[in-house]
Amino acid sequence: MPDVLYINGRFTTTDERVLGVEDRGFQFGDAIYEVFKFLRKRPVFLLDHFRRIDHGLREIEIPNPWNESSFRDTVDELLRRTQFDEGTAYIQVSRGEGERVHFYPDDMKPTAVVYTRRFRFPDAAKKDRGVRVITTEDERWRRCSLKSVNLLANAMAKKRAQRAGADEALLLDGDVVREGASSSFFAVRAGRIVTHPLDEHILPGVVRDHAISLALAEKIRVDERPSRTDELFHLDEAFMTSTTQGIMPITEIDGRVIGNSRRGEITGQLQRLFDAQELAEAGV
Ligand code: PDD
Repeated sequence: MPDVLYINGRFTTTDERVLGVEDRGFQFGDAIYEVFKFLRKRPVFLLDHFRRIDHGLREIEIPNPWNESSFRDTVDELLRRTQFDEGTAYIQVSRGEGERVHFYPDDMKPTAVVYTRRFRFPDAAKKDRGVRVITTEDERWRRCSLKSVNLLANAMAKKRAQRAGADEALLLDGDVVREGASSSFFAVRAGRIVTHPLDEHILPGVVRDHAISLALAEKIRVDERPSRTDELFHLDEAFMTSTTQGIMPITEIDGRVIGNSRRGEITGQLQRLFDAQELAEAGV
C-alpha cells in the first residue's frame, strides 16, 4: 500500500518513481540508511537514529542534508501525512546521482529519501515464544559499524535462516559470534549478560544500547565481549535486539534448545522494561 515519501525537500507518495538509474546508492551501495519505529504516529528514539546516520555520513564523507532540527521537522511532517498509526520509516542518503564512475566528483548533491511503511510488530505471544536462529559465516565487509546499504551478505544469511525454518542468522567469524544479520545478539549465563563490544565488527544497535542501560540499572552485570561459538550451547538464555523486534528471546540455535526453550527470566524482565520505555518515548 503506498504511503508518504520525502525526497530531497519535497513530499510525494511511494508510488511515484523518483530515483535515477545512475544514483550511486543503486549502483555502488554508496549510501547510509536508517530504520526507526513509530507508534501512534510518534517516532521512537529518533535522536539516536539521527546521531547514527550523521556519524555514518561523516565517515563516508557524504554531507548530511539535515541538522537535528530540520531532521525532526522532516519526520514530523512525514508522520503528519502517513495513513498508518504504527510502522517503520526508512531513511536513505546516497552520495547522489551522476555518471557511473568509481572516481566520484567532490561536489555531488546527496539523494535523501524517507518513507513510511506499515509494520506489524511482534505481539505478546511472539515475544513470549521467541525465535529460532541458525549460525552462518559472517561474509560482510570490515566496516560493519556503518549502517551502509551494502546488505548482500546480510540478505544471503537471512535467506539461509529462512530456508532452515529460522528467523535470524547469527554471524560467526572464526570461533566468535558477531551479531545477527539484522539484530544485535545477547547471551545470558549465570545471571550475567554477554554482548559484543562496539567496534568495526558490529552495528551500534539503538536497542542494544537501551538494553544494556536497562540491565545495568537493574544491577545485572553486562560483559562486553564476543561470545565464543562453544559457549552457545551452554547458555541459560539468549536474546536479540532490533528496532523492529525489540528484545526478542532466542529459544533455539542450530536446532539446539537454549535454557528451558521458553523466554528466560532476565530476557522477560528487560523486555518488559524496554517495551515500557518505548511507549514512554512515543508519549503513549
Ligand atoms: N537492522 N545489527 C544489524 C546488522 C542490523 O541490521 C540491525 C538493525 C541491528 C539492530 O540495530 P537497531 O537496534 O538500531 O535496530 C544490529 C534494521 C532494523 C534493518 O536493517 O532493517
